[in-house]
Amino acid sequence: MSLFRLDASINPATSQSRALADLVEAEWTSAHPDSIITRRDIGTHPLPATTWRDIATSGAAADTDLTPEEREARDIATTLADELIGADAILLAIPLYNWGVAAHVKSWYDITYTDQRISTGALAGKPVVLASVLGGDYSAASGKAHWDHSTPWLRHVIENIWKANLLVVQRQLTLVGVNPAMDAMKDQAAEVHAAAAQLAIEHGQALAVKRNALV
Ligand SMILES: Cc1cc2nc3c(=O)[nH]c(=O)nc-3n(C[C@H](O)[C@H](O)[C@H](O)COP(=O)(O)O)c2cc1C
Repeated sequence: MSLFRLDASINPATSQSRALADLVEAEWTSAHPDSIITRRDIGTHPLPATTWRDIATSGAAADTDLTPEEREARDIATTLADELIGADAILLAIPLYNWGVAAHVKSWYDITYTDQRISTGALAGKPVVLASVLGGDYSAASGKAHWDHSTPWLRHVIENIWKANLLVVQRQLTLVGVNPAMDAMKDQAAEVHAAAAQLAIEHGQALAVKRNALV
């Protein structure tokens, strides 16, 4: 058995998305102690900003006609796609930055998508857990639920492009305790944290048995 884990926090030392994904991973490891875990950290090691451009503009050119940069870009895409396709299960830990999908996450996704295997069903049915963290309050009561343009986009591409079996665990209000202006939300944040941690454990157990009762 093998797990591919992607981390995208730019602050790994304090990362709440890592902590949430760690709970998922612990359940996976408990069920599969001998599992290979392949890790990619695009928060601390972002992919070159030119990679996707070099692949997209080289189109269908034969490998022999590529510049060294274009060849390297295609090799990166193959490596990234291999990581996804070769895993029995996938765990993604992705924070919300500036109300959208961060550039380094979009870049990673765009590069993987240039590999034709990704768009032709190689990930269909693959169990995936997305651990999504948001600093603010996006509850229904906040009136800002639609300000999160990261989680819905990731859900869209994972479910409709990858056609994978996705479970999402989301933790909001991670900036409580960091931003004094949010101190009044301390109790609400603690409740949200506890619920997210419990759901992460449940999703980890589901991932481990490749069961995906969608929630
Ligand atoms: C540069 C930057 C931009 C951020 N933008 C947002 C935002 O638009 N909305 C939000 O709710 N939180 C935002 N946050 C807060 C993060 O989502 C929050 O701190 C989250 O826990 C970060 O993930 P991590 O703990 O795994 O590092 C931002 C944080 C940083 C550092």
